[in-house]
Amino acid sequence: MKHKSVKIGQNSTCPCGSGKKYKNCCRNKKIEVSIKKEYKRRYDIHLKEPHEIKGIKKSGKLLLSILDQVEKMIEPGLKTDDINTFVHEETIKAGAIPAPLHYRGFPKSVCVSINDVICHGIPGDRILKNGDIVNVDITPILDGYYADASKTFFVGTPTKDGEKIVNVAAQSLKRGIEVIAPGATLGDIGFAIQNYAESQGCSVVREFIGHGVGIDFHEQPQVMHFGKRGDGITLVPGMVFTIEPMINLGKKELHVLEDRWTAVTNDGSLSAQFEQTLLVTEKGWESLTPYEL
Ligand code: MF3
Ligand code: CO
Ligand code: CO
Repeated sequence: MKHKSVKIGQNSTCPCGSGKKYKNCCRNKKIEVSIKKEYKRRYDIHLKEPHEIKGIKKSGKLLLSILDQVEKMIEPGLKTDDINTFVHEETIKAGAIPAPLHYRGFPKSVCVSINDVICHGIPGDRILKNGDIVNVDITPILDGYYADASKTFFVGTPTKDGEKIVNVAAQSLKRGIEVIAPGATLGDIGFAIQNYAESQGCSVVREFIGHGVGIDFHEQPQVMHFGKRGDGITLVPGMVFTIEPMINLGKKELHVLEDRWTAVTNDGSLSAQFEQTLLVTEKGWESLTPYEL
């Protein structure tokens, strides 16, 4: 005998026994499961489950509490290694692990990037001086969950150039975040950032990009801070990634120092960066490392 499959009507009662209409119940679940599988298969993107989001958020809370305390320490005369010691100890005290330490050979527990250093500055004997700008980028692993965020601070009294680049970098992240919604694309985010930063006469670094995060330090997708509207992967609820535009006051070109980590602007101009870990929600977005921009 031939098996005949019965089509379940959108408005019929769901066969799972919930009492809800099929269209408001298991039909969506099936789609959710297939999107999750499809994003894994096509893009190697791991869409996060609610318990994972909870874990990343908790890691983000710890991150922000450490970052807030670092902000209070920042003043002329502070040694960058003292920032490293503080971040390391606070992370361990909370039962977490500083992800940067020994990551691909990185020797310290936090990235500290001053003035023309774009990112991945290694804390050491360098002393903060009045008028510097300094980015502090923190990534704890708490109960196995990674959160990744950074801010750029003024040391003492900001210079005109310092003020400008820090404000443009912060607003660049804000513009990128505000685009996030299901149905938008990664290209929409890149476009929003590039369009804004360049309209301010600044440039967007190409070599370092945002990334999926949560279960690992750097997951798929790659999140470009430049691009075209409508290009790239479509955002869906459950995606977790960073946006972390590095914005230069001068030209975008860079080189990496002998230490094989420290990235600096070729023209010596100031560079600033802000980073948050973002979740795509049904309605739009939620920051898992939220702070005002
Ligand atoms: N936190 C950086 C990021 O935003 C990565 C630093 S890698 C390290 O992706 F090894 F330098 F720590
Ligand atoms: Co990051
Ligand atoms: Co980071």
